[in-house]
Amino acid sequence: MTLTLTDLSRDPGLLPAVDALIGANMPEFMSWESPGNWRWHGMYDRYPAHQLCLVDGDGQLVAAANGLPVRWDGSPASLPGGSDEVLVEAVDHGPPDRADAVCMLSVSVDPAHRAAGHAERLLTEVRRRAAEHAPRGVVIPVRPTRKPHYPLIPLADYAAWRLPDGRCFDPWLRTHLELGARRLGVADRSLVIRQPVPRWEQFLGRPLPGPGAYPLPGGLVPLQVAEDGHGTYAEPNVWVHHPAL
Ligand SMILES: CC(C)(COP(=O)(O)OP(=O)(O)OC[C@H]1O[C@@H](n2cnc3c(N)ncnc32)[C@H](O)[C@@H]1OP(=O)(O)O)[C@@H](O)C(=O)NCCC(=O)NCCS
Repeated sequence: MTLTLTDLSRDPGLLPAVDALIGANMPEFMSWESPGNWRWHGMYDRYPAHQLCLVDGDGQLVAAANGLPVRWDGSPASLPGGSDEVLVEAVDHGPPDRADAVCMLSVSVDPAHRAAGHAERLLTEVRRRAAEHAPRGVVIPVRPTRKPHYPLIPLADYAAWRLPDGRCFDPWLRTHLELGARRLGVADRSLVIRQPVPRWEQFLGRPLPGPGAYPLPGGLVPLQVAEDGHGTYAEPNVWVHHPAL
């Protein structure tokens, strides 16, 4: 199927479809109130040309990639803490006077159109555009797609797992590495969602009677319930770097 590339600066009417696609592709709690999520639409408003969309012949959204420009000196140590910090900085303090890199915060493909190269096409387009205005390329706090099956394995160990043929175990991380990205490290608390225990109990459909670590469907790590009556999901991500093309 031939898809057309556009973005929210050219087609702002796609905004509700972008939100719906991301929402349908993520566990519900990933869009709850958090420092990054409060600013998600601020990213659309401030950086509409960085919100890429692939649409079919009927104008229906098939895939989206969301990002924004960041300052980055090229060293792993100077990367932001993760997705929340990137959004707080870029939305509250505005565009950097000089963009060093583009940070991609989300790539989403409609489940009916997976494994068709659309994610690769979006990543390649972001790298190509970076060559024009962000010389250090593209950095991404990657959410490995199979990690929810292995919530107790530390992310650094999981990211190092290999298939018998030597390729990276996680399919999404593998896509990045095979496109030429390199791993820069783990962002331990990329996105943090802290909510009262009753909200998590409603989501899970069962009581969480005491403090401790609880499995969370779709979570990369367990939910941590504290004595203060709050549960915190602190999502780790794998930082990868794609050079500009
Ligand atoms: C992550 C995502 C964008 C990747 O899109 P995609 O079209 O699956 O990407 P790829 O074509 O590169 O597929 C990656 C691998 O998963 C496999 N795969 C994708 N969809 C699959 C499916 N439905 N069934 C089995 N395997 C599938 C592909 O075959 C590929 O494996 P390979 O490297 O052995 O060929 C997509 O899975 C998605 O939208 N997921 C939900 C949102 C998300 O988690 N985004 C990433 C964090 S921001």
